[in-house]
Amino acid sequence: MANIREVFPGVFKIDGKYATLNAVPGVKVYKENLVKNGGKEYRIWDPKRSKLGAALVKGLKSLAIKPGSSVLYLGSANGTTASHVSDIVGESGKVYCVEFSAQSMRDLLMLCEQRKNLYPILADARLPDQYSEVKKVDVIFEDVADREQTNILLRNLLAFKAKSFLIAIKSRCIDSTANPRIVYNQEKAKISKAANVKELIILDPFEIDHCMITGETR
Ligand SMILES: C[S@@+](CC[C@H](N)C(=O)[O-])C[C@H]1O[C@@H](n2cnc3c(N)ncnc32)[C@H](O)[C@@H]1O
Repeated sequence: MANIREVFPGVFKIDGKYATLNAVPGVKVYKENLVKNGGKEYRIWDPKRSKLGAALVKGLKSLAIKPGSSVLYLGSANGTTASHVSDIVGESGKVYCVEFSAQSMRDLLMLCEQRKNLYPILADARLPDQYSEVKKVDVIFEDVADREQTNILLRNLLAFKAKSFLIAIKSRCIDSTANPRIVYNQEKAKISKAANVKELIILDPFEIDHCMITGETR
Protein backbone atom coordinates (compact mmCIF):
# COMPACT_ATOMS: atom_id res chain seq x y z
CA MET A 1 0.00 0.00 0.00
CA ALA A 2 1.48 3.35 -1.07
CA ASN A 3 1.85 6.22 1.39
CA ILE A 4 -0.33 9.03 -0.09
CA ARG A 5 -1.07 12.51 1.23
CA GLU A 6 -2.55 15.60 -0.38
CA VAL A 7 0.06 18.38 -0.08
CA PHE A 8 -1.91 21.07 -1.96
CA PRO A 9 -5.52 20.77 -3.12
CA GLY A 10 -5.28 18.40 -6.09
CA VAL A 11 -1.56 17.66 -5.62
CA PHE A 12 -0.44 14.49 -3.85
CA LYS A 13 2.77 13.02 -2.55
CA ILE A 14 3.08 9.28 -3.09
CA ASP A 15 6.06 7.58 -1.47
CA GLY A 16 7.95 10.88 -1.70
CA LYS A 17 7.00 11.70 -5.31
CA TYR A 18 4.55 14.39 -6.45
CA ALA A 19 1.49 13.27 -8.39
CA THR A 20 -1.95 14.32 -9.60
CA LEU A 21 -5.18 12.33 -9.80
CA ASN A 22 -5.48 11.06 -13.37
CA ALA A 23 -8.51 12.67 -15.03
CA VAL A 24 -8.31 10.03 -17.79
CA PRO A 25 -7.59 6.76 -15.96
CA GLY A 26 -5.41 4.29 -17.84
CA VAL A 27 -4.00 6.96 -20.14
CA LYS A 28 -0.45 8.31 -19.87
CA VAL A 29 0.50 11.67 -21.39
CA TYR A 30 4.32 11.50 -21.47
CA LYS A 31 5.27 7.98 -20.32
CA GLU A 32 4.86 9.02 -16.69
CA ASN A 33 4.31 6.30 -14.10
CA LEU A 34 0.75 5.53 -13.02
CA VAL A 35 -0.02 4.41 -9.47
CA LYS A 36 -3.34 2.83 -8.46
CA ASN A 37 -4.47 3.14 -4.87
CA GLY A 38 -7.85 2.91 -3.13
CA GLY A 39 -9.75 2.75 -6.44
CA LYS A 40 -8.01 5.89 -7.75
CA GLU A 41 -5.24 6.36 -10.26
CA TYR A 42 -2.46 8.91 -9.86
CA ARG A 43 0.07 10.22 -12.40
CA ILE A 44 3.59 10.65 -11.02
CA TRP A 45 4.83 14.15 -11.89
CA ASP A 46 8.33 14.02 -13.41
CA PRO A 47 10.36 17.07 -12.26
CA LYS A 48 12.77 16.55 -15.15
CA ARG A 49 9.97 16.97 -17.68
CA SER A 50 7.98 19.77 -16.04
CA LYS A 51 9.17 23.05 -14.50
CA LEU A 52 6.13 23.16 -12.25
CA GLY A 53 6.97 19.63 -11.14
CA ALA A 54 10.54 20.80 -10.49
CA ALA A 55 9.29 23.81 -8.48
CA LEU A 56 7.28 21.45 -6.26
CA VAL A 57 10.30 19.24 -5.60
CA LYS A 58 12.43 22.34 -4.96
CA GLY A 59 10.05 23.44 -2.19
CA LEU A 60 7.21 25.57 -3.62
CA LYS A 61 5.30 26.71 -0.51
CA SER A 62 1.95 27.65 -2.01
CA LEU A 63 0.18 26.82 -5.24
CA ALA A 64 -2.40 29.21 -6.70
CA ILE A 65 -3.67 26.58 -9.16
CA LYS A 66 -6.48 24.75 -7.36
CA PRO A 67 -9.53 22.60 -8.12
CA GLY A 68 -11.98 24.88 -9.97
CA SER A 69 -9.36 27.47 -11.04
CA SER A 70 -9.37 29.06 -14.47
CA VAL A 71 -5.79 29.13 -15.75
CA LEU A 72 -4.25 30.89 -18.74
CA TYR A 73 -1.27 28.75 -19.69
CA LEU A 74 1.20 30.60 -21.94
CA GLY A 75 3.57 28.26 -23.81
CA SER A 76 1.75 24.97 -23.26
CA ALA A 77 3.79 23.10 -25.92
CA ASN A 78 2.37 19.59 -26.33
CA GLY A 79 0.75 19.62 -22.89
CA THR A 80 3.11 17.77 -20.54
CA THR A 81 2.67 20.20 -17.64
CA ALA A 82 -0.75 21.36 -18.84
CA SER A 83 -1.98 17.79 -18.31
CA HIS A 84 -1.10 17.94 -14.60
CA VAL A 85 -2.72 21.38 -14.36
CA SER A 86 -5.78 19.83 -16.01
CA ASP A 87 -5.81 17.08 -13.34
CA ILE A 88 -5.58 19.70 -10.56
CA VAL A 89 -8.31 22.10 -11.73
CA GLY A 90 -10.66 19.18 -12.46
CA GLU A 91 -14.02 19.24 -14.21
CA SER A 92 -15.06 22.59 -12.77
CA GLY A 93 -11.82 24.32 -13.85
CA LYS A 94 -10.54 25.54 -17.20
CA VAL A 95 -7.06 25.66 -18.71
CA TYR A 96 -6.64 27.95 -21.74
CA CYS A 97 -3.51 26.71 -23.52
CA VAL A 98 -1.78 29.34 -25.66
CA GLU A 99 0.86 27.98 -28.01
CA PHE A 100 2.22 29.43 -31.25
CA SER A 101 3.94 26.35 -32.69
CA ALA A 102 1.59 24.52 -35.06
CA GLN A 103 3.54 21.30 -34.53
CA SER A 104 3.13 21.37 -30.72
CA MET A 105 -0.49 22.36 -31.20
CA ARG A 106 -1.17 19.17 -33.17
CA ASP A 107 -0.19 17.02 -30.15
CA LEU A 108 -2.01 19.35 -27.80
CA LEU A 109 -5.22 18.99 -29.80
CA MET A 110 -5.16 15.22 -29.23
CA LEU A 111 -4.76 15.83 -25.49
CA CYS A 112 -7.66 18.30 -25.54
CA GLU A 113 -9.87 15.61 -27.10
CA GLN A 114 -9.36 13.52 -23.95
CA ARG A 115 -9.39 16.36 -21.43
CA LYS A 116 -12.40 18.58 -21.77
CA ASN A 117 -11.09 21.26 -19.39
CA LEU A 118 -8.19 22.07 -21.78
CA TYR A 119 -8.92 24.76 -24.39
CA PRO A 120 -6.31 25.01 -27.18
CA ILE A 121 -5.49 28.47 -28.55
CA LEU A 122 -3.06 28.79 -31.47
CA ALA A 123 -1.78 32.31 -30.80
CA ASP A 124 1.20 34.44 -29.86
CA ALA A 125 1.40 35.09 -26.11
CA ARG A 126 3.00 38.47 -26.87
CA LEU A 127 -0.32 39.57 -28.31
CA PRO A 128 -3.14 38.99 -25.81
CA ASP A 129 -5.60 40.65 -28.20
CA GLN A 130 -5.34 37.47 -30.30
CA TYR A 131 -7.20 35.54 -27.58
CA SER A 132 -9.27 38.26 -25.95
CA GLU A 133 -12.25 35.85 -25.91
CA VAL A 134 -10.70 34.33 -22.76
CA LYS A 135 -11.76 37.51 -20.85
CA LYS A 136 -10.76 36.83 -17.19
CA VAL A 137 -8.81 34.07 -15.40
CA ASP A 138 -7.75 33.29 -11.82
CA VAL A 139 -4.13 32.34 -12.58
CA ILE A 140 -1.57 32.87 -15.34
CA PHE A 141 1.13 30.26 -15.80
CA GLU A 142 3.87 31.23 -18.24
CA ASP A 143 6.63 29.07 -19.68
CA VAL A 144 7.79 30.66 -22.93
CA ALA A 145 11.40 30.95 -23.97
CA ASP A 146 11.39 34.60 -25.00
CA ARG A 147 13.72 37.48 -24.19
CA GLU A 148 10.63 39.50 -23.27
CA GLN A 149 9.09 36.82 -21.05
CA THR A 150 8.51 39.12 -18.06
CA ASN A 151 6.84 41.80 -20.18
CA ILE A 152 4.65 39.08 -21.71
CA LEU A 153 3.52 38.13 -18.21
CA LEU A 154 2.77 41.73 -17.20
CA ARG A 155 0.81 42.35 -20.40
CA ASN A 156 -1.29 39.20 -19.90
CA LEU A 157 -1.89 39.90 -16.20
CA LEU A 158 -3.36 43.25 -17.16
CA ALA A 159 -5.40 41.90 -20.06
CA PHE A 160 -6.97 38.99 -18.17
CA LYS A 161 -7.16 40.48 -14.65
CA ALA A 162 -5.52 37.41 -13.11
CA LYS A 163 -5.02 37.47 -9.35
CA SER A 164 -2.08 35.03 -9.25
CA PHE A 165 0.79 34.05 -11.50
CA LEU A 166 3.65 31.64 -11.92
CA ILE A 167 6.40 32.25 -14.45
CA ALA A 168 9.35 30.05 -15.42
CA ILE A 169 12.28 32.33 -16.17
CA LYS A 170 14.98 31.05 -18.52
CA SER A 171 18.02 33.16 -17.75
CA ARG A 172 19.97 32.34 -20.92
CA CYS A 173 17.08 33.57 -23.03
CA ILE A 174 17.26 36.99 -21.40
CA ASP A 175 21.05 37.28 -21.19
CA SER A 176 23.20 34.35 -22.28
CA THR A 177 26.35 35.60 -20.54
CA ALA A 178 25.06 37.03 -17.23
CA ASN A 179 25.01 35.15 -13.93
CA PRO A 180 21.53 33.54 -13.82
CA ARG A 181 20.92 34.75 -10.25
CA ILE A 182 21.45 38.34 -11.35
CA VAL A 183 18.98 37.83 -14.20
CA TYR A 184 16.40 36.24 -11.83
CA ASN A 185 16.65 39.21 -9.46
CA GLN A 186 16.36 41.69 -12.34
CA GLU A 187 13.19 39.98 -13.57
CA LYS A 188 11.86 39.76 -10.01
CA ALA A 189 12.41 43.51 -9.59
CA LYS A 190 10.61 44.17 -12.89
CA ILE A 191 7.61 42.08 -11.78
CA SER A 192 7.64 43.69 -8.31
CA LYS A 193 6.87 47.09 -9.84
CA ALA A 194 3.46 45.78 -10.90
CA ALA A 195 2.71 42.84 -8.59
CA ASN A 196 3.72 41.20 -5.30
CA VAL A 197 6.30 38.45 -5.68
CA LYS A 198 5.80 35.57 -3.22
CA GLU A 199 8.42 32.98 -4.13
CA LEU A 200 11.51 32.65 -6.32
CA ILE A 201 12.58 29.04 -6.68
CA ILE A 202 15.72 27.99 -8.51
CA LEU A 203 14.97 24.92 -10.63
CA ASP A 204 18.49 23.51 -11.00
CA PRO A 205 19.36 20.64 -11.28
CA PHE A 206 16.06 19.73 -12.99
CA GLU A 207 16.12 22.73 -15.34
CA ILE A 208 19.53 24.36 -15.59
CA ASP A 209 19.53 28.19 -15.46
CA HIS A 210 15.79 28.44 -14.80
CA CYS A 211 13.80 29.73 -11.86
CA MET A 212 10.09 29.90 -11.07
CA ILE A 213 8.66 33.16 -9.74
CA THR A 214 5.17 33.20 -8.20
CA GLY A 215 3.05 36.02 -6.89
CA GLU A 216 -0.18 37.98 -6.83
CA THR A 217 -1.43 41.14 -8.45
CA ARG A 218 -2.25 44.16 -6.30
C1 LIG B 1 9.66 25.27 -22.74
S1 LIG B 1 8.36 25.01 -23.85
C2 LIG B 1 6.96 24.78 -22.79
C3 LIG B 1 6.90 23.46 -22.07
C4 LIG B 1 5.57 23.29 -21.37
N1 LIG B 1 5.27 24.44 -20.55
C5 LIG B 1 5.55 22.06 -20.47
O1 LIG B 1 6.09 22.12 -19.36
O2 LIG B 1 4.97 21.06 -20.86
C6 LIG B 1 8.03 26.64 -24.41
C7 LIG B 1 6.89 26.70 -25.40
O3 LIG B 1 6.52 28.06 -25.57
C8 LIG B 1 6.16 28.25 -26.91
N2 LIG B 1 6.26 29.68 -27.18
C9 LIG B 1 7.40 30.44 -27.19
N3 LIG B 1 7.09 31.73 -27.43
C10 LIG B 1 5.74 31.79 -27.55
C11 LIG B 1 4.83 32.82 -27.80
N4 LIG B 1 5.24 34.09 -27.96
N5 LIG B 1 3.51 32.54 -27.86
C12 LIG B 1 3.08 31.26 -27.70
N6 LIG B 1 3.89 30.22 -27.47
C13 LIG B 1 5.21 30.47 -27.39
C14 LIG B 1 7.15 27.38 -27.69
O4 LIG B 1 6.64 27.08 -28.98
C15 LIG B 1 7.26 26.16 -26.79
O5 LIG B 1 6.33 25.17 -27.15
